[in-house]
Amino acid sequence: MATLFVDRRRVILERRTGRLITARSHATQPSPHIGSTPRLVAVGGGKGGVGKTFLSSNLSVALAKLGFRVVAIDTDIEGPNLHTWLGVGQPKASLADFVAGRTDSIMPLISETVVPGLGLIAATHGNLAAAQPSAERRIELLRQLRTIPCDFVFVDCGAGAHPANIDYFLVGDEGLLVLHPEPTSVENTYTFVRAAFYRRMQLAMQKHDVRERIREAMDQRNERGIRTPLHLLREIEQIDPEEGQRFVQSMRSFRPRLIVNEVGSTEDIKLGFSVKKVCKQFFGIEVDYLGYLNRDAQVLDAVRHKTPLLDAHPDSDAAVYLRRIARKLAEAVPLPAAD
Ligand SMILES: Nc1ncnc2c1ncn2[C@@H]1O[C@H](COP(=O)(O)OP(=O)(O)OP(=O)(O)O)[C@@H](O)[C@H]1O
Ligand SMILES: [Mg+2]
Repeated sequence: MATLFVDRRRVILERRTGRLITARSHATQPSPHIGSTPRLVAVGGGKGGVGKTFLSSNLSVALAKLGFRVVAIDTDIEGPNLHTWLGVGQPKASLADFVAGRTDSIMPLISETVVPGLGLIAATHGNLAAAQPSAERRIELLRQLRTIPCDFVFVDCGAGAHPANIDYFLVGDEGLLVLHPEPTSVENTYTFVRAAFYRRMQLAMQKHDVRERIREAMDQRNERGIRTPLHLLREIEQIDPEEGQRFVQSMRSFRPRLIVNEVGSTEDIKLGFSVKKVCKQFFGIEVDYLGYLNRDAQVLDAVRHKTPLLDAHPDSDAAVYLRRIARKLAEAVPLPAAD
């Protein structure tokens, strides 16, 4: 896809509206692509420290460098650091302002980054006594993310299967699931996939008793003995065949994409295929294996220098694999036309 590389315009952000506009077009004329809905890419995972923020930040950078307008948002209010990966010091505004009701619009929260075309909504200076938004506020936030006039929004999620993290993960058109090649991470990945799956199904079902049955199934030791999504499906079909059909449809559209980060051997690379197989065989859930990244000391060096890896070490191993994954994500979205 050679055309992906043609557009390296300098793009800046208009702070008030959050519009991404090109500097060359004299800062008033929106790009032709502005106005369409962005593709939301959520980056989550069952375990802390596996590289979710590294990937959210640097995939955002990679796509911005391909000419897309991108906004990355940190939803990890209790442990925010996306801004550091993107080389932004202490942003003046952050998601915490939206959570605390200091603003009702997320547009003024978007700050510029060192990368043209890439905006950031940081999660700094949160009120640690009440860091997470209420459910209503979260729904409003997720609604507004779809209205940001750009091509991609990257949602960096906190670790684990907490309901807030799962909801952020499920908002994505794409859900990238990051894991490490180690048993603890694999175990937590299955827990996360299961939790995300059940939550997604609960949201998709219309009847109260069906939603209740899903809630019961979320308890791994439930007395009905429901242990797998396929078993749950059989139960739902018995309650209401129409809901059963809806369940199957939602099940088909739930397709997280795996990224194995910090691989060190061919065995590690194969892990993505085994996780995919287990998800299918034991849960009946399809996951894609999107790719892997090598363990690379340049990643730590880049974050130490508070510089995106793709700027600090563009030829490093990890940067090469990152760009490969970014190109796969880019396939879903047409590149905005050049001015
Ligand atoms: N491919 C890699 N090679 C080497 N080190 C890496 C790689 N990916 C991530 N790291 C290191 O792993 C650490 C954790 O990364 P990161 O902060 O992205 O994880 P996280 O999943 O977002 O963590 P948390 O759950 O706390 O939010 C970083 O310090 C980074 O240097
Ligand atoms: Mg993180």
